[in-house]
Amino acid sequence: MNQQWDHFYKKTYQERLQLIVANAKLDAAQFQKLQAGASGVSTNLIENYLTDYALPEGIVTNLVVNDQPYLVPMVTEEPSVIAAASNGSKLLADGKGVSAAVLDRLVTGQVVIKTSQFEKVNRFIQQHQAEAIEVANKSHQRILQYSRGARELAVRQLDSSFVSVDLTVDTGEAMGANLINTMLEAVANWLREQLHVEITMAILSNFADGSLVRVSGCVNSDKLATQTMTGRQVAQRIVDASRVAQIDIHRAATHNKGIMNGIDAAVIALGNDSRAVESAVHSFAARDGSYRGVSQWRIDHDQLVGEMTVPMPIGFLGGATKVLPLVSVNQAIMGVKNVHEEMMVIAAVGLAQNLAALKALVTDGIQRGHMNLQLKSLAMANGTTEAELPKILPQLRQLKQPDSLAVKRLLNQLRK
Ligand code: MEV
Repeated sequence: MNQQWDHFYKKTYQERLQLIVANAKLDAAQFQKLQAGASGVSTNLIENYLTDYALPEGIVTNLVVNDQPYLVPMVTEEPSVIAAASNGSKLLADGKGVSAAVLDRLVTGQVVIKTSQFEKVNRFIQQHQAEAIEVANKSHQRILQYSRGARELAVRQLDSSFVSVDLTVDTGEAMGANLINTMLEAVANWLREQLHVEITMAILSNFADGSLVRVSGCVNSDKLATQTMTGRQVAQRIVDASRVAQIDIHRAATHNKGIMNGIDAAVIALGNDSRAVESAVHSFAARDGSYRGVSQWRIDHDQLVGEMTVPMPIGFLGGATKVLPLVSVNQAIMGVKNVHEEMMVIAAVGLAQNLAALKALVTDGIQRGHMNLQLKSLAMANGTTEAELPKILPQLRQLKQPDSLAVKRLLNQLRK
Protein backbone atom coordinates (compact mmCIF):
# COMPACT_ATOMS: atom_id res chain seq x y z
CA MET A 1 0.00 0.00 0.00
CA ASN A 2 1.33 3.43 -0.93
CA GLN A 3 2.25 5.18 2.34
CA GLN A 4 1.46 8.66 1.10
CA TRP A 5 -2.20 7.91 1.89
CA ASP A 6 -1.46 6.98 5.51
CA HIS A 7 -3.16 9.41 7.88
CA PHE A 8 -4.56 11.28 4.90
CA TYR A 9 -7.30 12.61 7.17
CA LYS A 10 -4.69 14.24 9.45
CA LYS A 11 -3.21 16.34 6.64
CA THR A 12 -4.19 19.97 6.15
CA TYR A 13 -6.64 20.76 3.40
CA GLN A 14 -3.88 22.14 1.14
CA GLU A 15 -1.70 19.07 1.69
CA ARG A 16 -4.57 16.77 0.74
CA LEU A 17 -5.37 18.82 -2.32
CA GLN A 18 -1.72 18.84 -3.48
CA LEU A 19 -1.44 15.10 -3.02
CA ILE A 20 -4.56 14.41 -5.07
CA VAL A 21 -3.50 16.83 -7.78
CA ALA A 22 -0.04 15.29 -8.03
CA ASN A 23 -1.33 11.72 -7.93
CA ALA A 24 -3.92 12.25 -10.66
CA LYS A 25 -1.63 14.65 -12.60
CA LEU A 26 -4.38 17.25 -12.69
CA ASP A 27 -3.72 20.43 -14.66
CA ALA A 28 -4.02 23.99 -13.31
CA ALA A 29 -7.65 24.34 -14.43
CA GLN A 30 -8.66 21.11 -12.73
CA PHE A 31 -6.82 22.13 -9.55
CA GLN A 32 -8.65 25.44 -9.65
CA LYS A 33 -12.03 23.71 -9.97
CA LEU A 34 -11.41 21.63 -6.87
CA GLN A 35 -10.13 24.54 -4.84
CA ALA A 36 -12.86 26.93 -5.92
CA GLY A 37 -15.52 24.44 -4.83
CA ALA A 38 -14.14 24.03 -1.33
CA SER A 39 -15.99 25.43 1.66
CA GLY A 40 -15.16 25.76 5.34
CA VAL A 41 -18.51 24.28 6.36
CA SER A 42 -18.02 21.06 4.45
CA THR A 43 -14.44 20.58 5.67
CA ASN A 44 -15.92 19.89 9.07
CA LEU A 45 -18.76 17.72 7.83
CA ILE A 46 -16.92 14.76 6.29
CA GLU A 47 -13.50 13.16 6.50
CA ASN A 48 -10.78 13.52 3.82
CA TYR A 49 -12.68 16.49 2.42
CA LEU A 50 -11.71 17.69 -1.05
CA THR A 51 -14.40 19.95 -2.49
CA ASP A 52 -18.13 20.60 -2.70
CA TYR A 53 -19.69 18.61 -5.53
CA ALA A 54 -22.38 20.81 -7.04
CA LEU A 55 -25.66 19.40 -8.34
CA PRO A 56 -28.39 21.42 -10.03
CA GLU A 57 -31.21 22.66 -7.82
CA GLY A 58 -34.57 23.64 -9.33
CA ILE A 59 -38.10 24.32 -8.15
CA VAL A 60 -41.22 22.24 -8.60
CA THR A 61 -44.22 24.46 -9.15
CA ASN A 62 -47.99 23.81 -9.02
CA LEU A 63 -47.96 21.47 -6.06
CA VAL A 64 -50.97 21.78 -3.76
CA VAL A 65 -51.04 19.74 -0.54
CA ASN A 66 -53.93 19.89 1.93
CA ASP A 67 -55.24 22.98 0.10
CA GLN A 68 -51.96 24.85 0.40
CA PRO A 69 -49.70 25.68 -2.57
CA TYR A 70 -46.03 24.76 -2.24
CA LEU A 71 -42.85 25.43 -4.17
CA VAL A 72 -40.50 22.51 -3.68
CA PRO A 73 -36.73 22.81 -4.13
CA MET A 74 -35.29 19.70 -5.73
CA VAL A 75 -31.67 18.69 -6.25
CA THR A 76 -31.18 16.29 -9.12
CA GLU A 77 -28.92 15.56 -12.06
CA GLU A 78 -31.72 13.95 -14.12
CA PRO A 79 -32.93 16.44 -16.75
CA SER A 80 -36.64 15.60 -16.86
CA VAL A 81 -37.42 15.14 -13.17
CA ILE A 82 -38.47 18.67 -12.21
CA ALA A 83 -40.51 19.27 -15.35
CA ALA A 84 -42.32 15.97 -14.79
CA ALA A 85 -42.99 16.68 -11.10
CA SER A 86 -44.41 20.11 -11.96
CA ASN A 87 -46.54 18.51 -14.64
CA GLY A 88 -47.91 15.84 -12.32
CA SER A 89 -48.47 18.47 -9.62
CA LYS A 90 -50.51 20.57 -12.03
CA LEU A 91 -52.71 17.63 -13.00
CA LEU A 92 -53.33 16.87 -9.32
CA ALA A 93 -53.90 20.55 -8.50
CA ASP A 94 -56.61 20.63 -11.18
CA GLY A 95 -58.33 17.97 -9.05
CA LYS A 96 -58.38 19.01 -5.41
CA GLY A 97 -54.64 18.83 -4.93
CA VAL A 98 -52.97 16.17 -2.84
CA SER A 99 -54.46 15.15 0.50
CA ALA A 100 -51.78 14.07 2.93
CA ALA A 101 -51.59 12.77 6.48
CA VAL A 102 -48.73 11.62 8.68
CA LEU A 103 -49.83 8.31 10.19
CA ASP A 104 -47.07 8.30 12.77
CA ARG A 105 -43.62 9.74 13.36
CA LEU A 106 -41.70 7.24 15.44
CA VAL A 107 -38.20 5.88 14.94
CA THR A 108 -37.32 2.31 15.83
CA GLY A 109 -34.06 0.57 16.47
CA GLN A 110 -32.96 -2.83 17.61
CA VAL A 111 -30.70 -4.51 20.09
CA VAL A 112 -29.96 -7.89 18.57
CA ILE A 113 -29.18 -10.58 21.14
CA LYS A 114 -27.66 -13.96 20.35
CA THR A 115 -29.78 -16.25 22.48
CA SER A 116 -32.20 -19.15 22.20
CA GLN A 117 -34.09 -17.87 25.25
CA PHE A 118 -36.74 -15.71 23.66
CA GLU A 119 -39.21 -16.24 26.54
CA LYS A 120 -36.69 -15.15 29.15
CA VAL A 121 -35.84 -11.91 27.30
CA ASN A 122 -39.49 -11.24 26.54
CA ARG A 123 -40.55 -11.68 30.18
CA PHE A 124 -37.71 -9.50 31.38
CA ILE A 125 -38.62 -6.66 29.01
CA GLN A 126 -42.33 -6.88 29.89
CA GLN A 127 -41.50 -6.71 33.60
CA HIS A 128 -38.94 -3.91 33.26
CA GLN A 129 -40.48 -1.62 30.61
CA ALA A 130 -40.34 1.50 32.77
CA GLU A 131 -36.74 0.86 33.80
CA ALA A 132 -35.68 0.17 30.21
CA ILE A 133 -37.28 3.40 29.05
CA GLU A 134 -35.46 5.26 31.80
CA VAL A 135 -32.14 3.68 30.76
CA ALA A 136 -32.77 4.85 27.20
CA ASN A 137 -33.85 8.35 28.19
CA LYS A 138 -30.95 8.84 30.57
CA SER A 139 -28.33 7.72 28.04
CA HIS A 140 -27.74 11.30 26.97
CA GLN A 141 -28.24 14.42 29.06
CA ARG A 142 -30.26 16.28 26.48
CA ILE A 143 -32.43 13.55 24.96
CA LEU A 144 -35.61 14.87 26.50
CA GLN A 145 -34.70 18.41 25.47
CA TYR A 146 -34.61 17.46 21.78
CA SER A 147 -37.16 14.68 21.62
CA ARG A 148 -40.10 13.20 23.40
CA GLY A 149 -37.96 10.21 24.28
CA ALA A 150 -38.39 6.46 24.32
CA ARG A 151 -41.94 5.15 23.98
CA GLU A 152 -41.74 1.38 24.34
CA LEU A 153 -39.72 -1.78 23.94
CA ALA A 154 -40.94 -4.95 22.26
CA VAL A 155 -39.29 -8.31 21.71
CA ARG A 156 -39.25 -10.35 18.49
CA GLN A 157 -37.84 -13.81 17.96
CA LEU A 158 -35.82 -13.75 14.73
CA ASP A 159 -34.99 -17.46 14.68
CA SER A 160 -33.87 -20.06 17.21
CA SER A 161 -30.60 -18.17 17.87
CA PHE A 162 -31.48 -14.48 17.68
CA VAL A 163 -33.86 -12.17 19.46
CA SER A 164 -34.43 -8.53 18.66
CA VAL A 165 -35.37 -6.03 21.36
CA ASP A 166 -37.02 -3.18 19.46
CA LEU A 167 -36.96 0.31 20.92
CA THR A 168 -39.42 2.93 19.65
CA VAL A 169 -38.54 6.60 20.11
CA ASP A 170 -40.36 9.83 19.41
CA THR A 171 -37.49 11.89 18.03
CA GLY A 172 -39.51 15.08 17.69
CA GLU A 173 -38.35 17.36 14.87
CA ALA A 174 -35.05 15.50 14.37
CA MET A 175 -34.45 12.51 12.12
CA GLY A 176 -32.96 11.13 15.29
CA ALA A 177 -30.37 8.65 14.06
CA ASN A 178 -27.68 9.72 16.54
CA LEU A 179 -30.18 10.05 19.31
CA ILE A 180 -31.64 6.57 18.98
CA ASN A 181 -28.25 4.95 18.43
CA THR A 182 -27.04 6.44 21.73
CA MET A 183 -30.17 5.15 23.46
CA LEU A 184 -29.82 1.69 21.91
CA GLU A 185 -26.21 1.31 23.00
CA ALA A 186 -27.21 2.20 26.57
CA VAL A 187 -30.06 -0.32 26.51
CA ALA A 188 -27.71 -2.95 25.05
CA ASN A 189 -25.19 -2.46 27.87
CA TRP A 190 -27.95 -2.64 30.45
CA LEU A 191 -29.34 -5.86 28.95
CA ARG A 192 -25.87 -7.38 28.85
CA GLU A 193 -25.45 -6.66 32.56
CA GLN A 194 -28.91 -7.76 33.56
CA LEU A 195 -29.29 -10.89 31.45
CA HIS A 196 -25.64 -11.89 30.84
CA VAL A 197 -26.37 -12.25 27.14
CA GLU A 198 -24.24 -11.75 24.04
CA ILE A 199 -25.27 -8.58 22.23
CA THR A 200 -24.68 -8.86 18.48
CA MET A 201 -25.43 -5.21 17.69
CA ALA A 202 -27.44 -2.16 18.63
CA ILE A 203 -28.54 0.09 15.77
CA LEU A 204 -31.56 1.96 14.43
CA SER A 205 -33.65 0.22 11.81
CA ASN A 206 -34.19 1.81 8.42
CA PHE A 207 -37.38 -0.19 8.07
CA ALA A 208 -39.22 2.95 9.06
CA ASP A 209 -42.80 1.71 9.25
CA GLY A 210 -43.31 3.95 12.29
CA SER A 211 -42.90 7.06 10.09
CA LEU A 212 -45.57 6.62 7.44
CA VAL A 213 -47.21 9.28 5.29
CA ARG A 214 -50.33 8.64 3.26
CA VAL A 215 -51.02 10.78 0.20
CA SER A 216 -53.84 10.66 -2.31
CA GLY A 217 -54.95 12.77 -5.23
CA CYS A 218 -57.27 12.68 -8.20
CA VAL A 219 -57.41 13.95 -11.75
CA ASN A 220 -60.51 14.38 -13.83
CA SER A 221 -60.08 11.98 -16.76
CA ASP A 222 -60.79 14.81 -19.25
CA LYS A 223 -57.49 16.41 -18.29
CA LEU A 224 -55.60 13.33 -19.48
CA ALA A 225 -56.82 13.33 -23.09
CA THR A 226 -54.21 13.40 -25.84
CA GLN A 227 -54.57 13.95 -29.58
CA THR A 228 -55.09 10.25 -30.15
CA MET A 229 -56.64 8.99 -26.87
CA THR A 230 -59.61 10.01 -24.78
CA GLY A 231 -58.95 10.94 -21.16
CA ARG A 232 -60.79 7.81 -20.05
CA GLN A 233 -58.50 5.63 -22.19
CA VAL A 234 -55.40 7.26 -20.74
CA ALA A 235 -56.80 6.86 -17.21
CA GLN A 236 -57.47 3.17 -17.83
CA ARG A 237 -53.94 2.70 -19.18
CA ILE A 238 -52.50 4.37 -16.05
CA VAL A 239 -54.57 1.97 -13.92
CA ASP A 240 -53.16 -0.91 -15.99
CA ALA A 241 -49.61 0.37 -15.49
CA SER A 242 -50.24 0.63 -11.76
CA ARG A 243 -51.52 -2.97 -11.71
CA VAL A 244 -48.42 -4.23 -13.49
CA ALA A 245 -46.29 -2.67 -10.71
CA GLN A 246 -48.24 -4.84 -8.23
CA ILE A 247 -47.64 -8.13 -10.05
CA ASP A 248 -44.16 -7.82 -11.57
CA ILE A 249 -40.98 -6.98 -9.67
CA HIS A 250 -39.28 -5.82 -12.87
CA ARG A 251 -41.87 -3.11 -13.32
CA ALA A 252 -42.33 -2.43 -9.58
CA ALA A 253 -38.66 -1.44 -9.23
CA THR A 254 -38.93 1.06 -12.09
CA HIS A 255 -42.30 2.36 -10.90
CA ASN A 256 -40.81 3.04 -7.46
CA LYS A 257 -37.63 4.50 -8.95
CA GLY A 258 -39.80 7.09 -10.67
CA ILE A 259 -41.42 7.97 -7.33
CA MET A 260 -37.99 8.21 -5.70
CA ASN A 261 -36.85 10.59 -8.47
CA GLY A 262 -39.05 13.18 -6.81
CA ILE A 263 -38.70 12.11 -3.20
CA ASP A 264 -34.89 11.87 -3.20
CA ALA A 265 -34.43 15.19 -4.98
CA ALA A 266 -36.51 16.99 -2.33
CA VAL A 267 -34.96 15.00 0.53
CA ILE A 268 -31.47 16.07 -0.62
CA ALA A 269 -32.51 19.72 -1.07
CA LEU A 270 -33.77 19.65 2.52
CA GLY A 271 -30.51 18.29 3.91
CA ASN A 272 -31.75 14.82 4.73
CA ASP A 273 -30.34 11.33 4.29
CA SER A 274 -31.70 10.08 0.97
CA ARG A 275 -30.22 6.60 1.49
CA ALA A 276 -32.28 6.21 4.66
CA VAL A 277 -35.44 7.20 2.79
CA GLU A 278 -34.58 4.92 -0.16
CA SER A 279 -33.93 1.99 2.12
CA ALA A 280 -37.14 2.65 4.06
CA VAL A 281 -39.32 2.94 0.96
CA HIS A 282 -37.92 -0.13 -0.80
CA SER A 283 -38.09 -2.34 2.28
CA PHE A 284 -41.64 -1.11 2.90
CA ALA A 285 -42.45 -1.98 -0.72
CA ALA A 286 -41.41 -5.57 0.06
CA ARG A 287 -42.96 -5.80 3.54
CA ASP A 288 -45.29 -8.69 2.70
CA GLY A 289 -42.55 -10.71 1.01
CA SER A 290 -43.22 -9.50 -2.54
CA TYR A 291 -41.74 -6.26 -3.81
CA ARG A 292 -44.53 -4.04 -5.17
CA GLY A 293 -45.18 -0.53 -6.41
CA VAL A 294 -45.83 1.76 -3.44
CA SER A 295 -48.54 3.75 -5.22
CA GLN A 296 -51.75 2.54 -6.82
CA TRP A 297 -54.12 4.18 -9.28
CA ARG A 298 -57.82 3.39 -9.84
CA ILE A 299 -60.79 4.91 -11.60
CA ASP A 300 -63.66 6.25 -9.54
CA HIS A 301 -66.51 7.60 -11.72
CA ASP A 302 -64.77 10.07 -14.03
CA GLN A 303 -61.75 10.50 -11.77
CA LEU A 304 -58.36 8.85 -11.84
CA VAL A 305 -57.44 8.40 -8.18
CA GLY A 306 -53.93 7.73 -6.87
CA GLU A 307 -52.94 6.62 -3.39
CA MET A 308 -49.59 6.02 -1.83
CA THR A 309 -48.32 5.23 1.65
CA VAL A 310 -44.58 5.53 2.18
CA PRO A 311 -42.20 5.81 5.10
CA MET A 312 -40.53 9.22 5.31
CA PRO A 313 -37.80 9.06 7.96
CA ILE A 314 -36.57 12.64 7.75
CA GLY A 315 -35.85 15.45 10.16
CA PHE A 316 -36.65 19.15 10.09
CA LEU A 317 -33.98 20.07 12.61
CA GLY A 318 -30.59 18.70 13.52
CA GLY A 319 -27.98 16.72 11.58
CA ALA A 320 -26.90 18.15 8.23
CA THR A 321 -30.02 20.37 8.12
CA LYS A 322 -28.36 22.91 10.35
CA VAL A 323 -24.90 22.66 8.75
CA LEU A 324 -25.57 22.79 5.01
CA PRO A 325 -26.07 26.47 4.17
CA LEU A 326 -28.84 26.00 1.59
CA VAL A 327 -31.13 23.88 3.74
CA SER A 328 -32.67 26.75 5.73
CA VAL A 329 -33.09 28.68 2.47
CA ASN A 330 -34.81 25.69 0.88
CA GLN A 331 -37.05 25.21 3.92
CA ALA A 332 -38.02 28.88 3.59
CA ILE A 333 -38.73 28.52 -0.15
CA MET A 334 -40.92 25.54 0.60
CA GLY A 335 -42.52 27.32 3.53
CA VAL A 336 -42.63 24.24 5.73
CA LYS A 337 -42.66 24.78 9.46
CA ASN A 338 -42.18 21.33 10.92
CA VAL A 339 -41.26 17.75 10.15
CA HIS A 340 -44.86 16.58 9.66
CA GLU A 341 -45.48 19.19 6.99
CA GLU A 342 -42.16 18.40 5.29
CA MET A 343 -42.95 14.65 5.26
CA MET A 344 -46.32 15.29 3.61
CA VAL A 345 -45.04 17.66 0.95
CA ILE A 346 -42.17 15.36 -0.03
CA ALA A 347 -44.49 12.35 -0.31
CA ALA A 348 -46.87 14.46 -2.41
CA VAL A 349 -44.03 15.21 -4.83
CA GLY A 350 -43.48 11.44 -5.14
CA LEU A 351 -47.11 10.90 -6.12
CA ALA A 352 -47.00 13.75 -8.65
CA GLN A 353 -43.78 12.38 -10.11
CA ASN A 354 -45.37 8.96 -10.44
CA LEU A 355 -48.45 10.33 -12.19
CA ALA A 356 -46.36 12.25 -14.72
CA ALA A 357 -44.18 9.21 -15.44
CA LEU A 358 -47.15 6.86 -15.88
CA LYS A 359 -48.99 9.32 -18.09
CA ALA A 360 -45.95 9.73 -20.34
CA LEU A 361 -45.32 5.97 -20.45
CA VAL A 362 -48.86 5.02 -21.48
CA THR A 363 -49.23 7.82 -24.05
CA ASP A 364 -46.23 9.17 -25.98
CA GLY A 365 -43.61 7.05 -24.24
CA ILE A 366 -40.98 8.56 -22.03
CA GLN A 367 -38.44 9.51 -24.68
CA ARG A 368 -40.44 12.17 -26.47
CA GLY A 369 -40.89 14.38 -23.41
CA HIS A 370 -37.34 13.75 -22.29
CA MET A 371 -35.81 14.43 -25.66
CA ASN A 372 -35.52 18.17 -25.42
CA LEU A 373 -33.82 18.11 -22.05
CA GLN A 374 -31.68 15.16 -23.03
CA LEU A 375 -30.52 16.92 -26.18
CA LYS A 376 -29.56 19.91 -24.05
CA SER A 377 -27.44 17.82 -21.73
CA LEU A 378 -25.95 15.89 -24.69
CA ALA A 379 -24.99 19.20 -26.30
CA MET A 380 -23.47 20.59 -23.10
CA ALA A 381 -21.65 17.35 -22.29
CA ASN A 382 -19.94 17.68 -25.67
CA GLY A 383 -18.73 21.22 -25.17
CA THR A 384 -21.63 23.39 -26.34
CA THR A 385 -21.62 26.70 -24.47
CA GLU A 386 -24.82 28.32 -23.20
CA ALA A 387 -24.56 30.93 -25.97
CA GLU A 388 -24.30 28.21 -28.63
CA LEU A 389 -27.28 26.16 -27.36
CA PRO A 390 -30.01 28.12 -29.21
CA LYS A 391 -28.21 27.41 -32.51
CA ILE A 392 -27.23 23.80 -31.84
CA LEU A 393 -30.49 22.48 -30.32
CA PRO A 394 -32.82 23.05 -33.31
CA GLN A 395 -30.28 21.35 -35.58
CA LEU A 396 -29.93 18.39 -33.23
CA ARG A 397 -33.72 18.01 -33.12
CA GLN A 398 -33.76 17.53 -36.89
CA LEU A 399 -31.34 14.61 -36.77
CA LYS A 400 -32.33 10.95 -36.78
CA GLN A 401 -29.36 10.06 -34.61
CA PRO A 402 -28.39 12.95 -32.36
CA ASP A 403 -25.23 11.73 -30.63
CA SER A 404 -21.86 13.05 -29.43
CA LEU A 405 -20.36 12.92 -32.91
CA ALA A 406 -23.25 14.91 -34.30
CA VAL A 407 -22.84 17.60 -31.62
CA LYS A 408 -19.12 17.88 -32.36
CA ARG A 409 -19.76 18.12 -36.10
CA LEU A 410 -22.37 20.84 -35.62
CA LEU A 411 -20.08 22.74 -33.26
CA ASN A 412 -17.24 22.61 -35.79
CA GLN A 413 -19.50 24.06 -38.46
CA LEU A 414 -20.80 26.76 -36.13
CA ARG A 415 -17.37 27.82 -34.93
CA LYS A 416 -15.81 28.03 -38.40
C1 MEV B 1 -37.00 7.49 -15.07
O1 MEV B 1 -36.02 8.09 -14.27
C2 MEV B 1 -38.20 7.10 -14.26
C3 MEV B 1 -39.27 6.29 -15.00
O2 MEV B 1 -38.68 5.13 -15.56
C4 MEV B 1 -40.32 5.92 -13.96
C5 MEV B 1 -41.34 4.92 -14.47
O3 MEV B 1 -41.06 4.15 -15.40
O4 MEV B 1 -42.44 4.89 -13.85
C6 MEV B 1 -39.87 7.08 -16.13
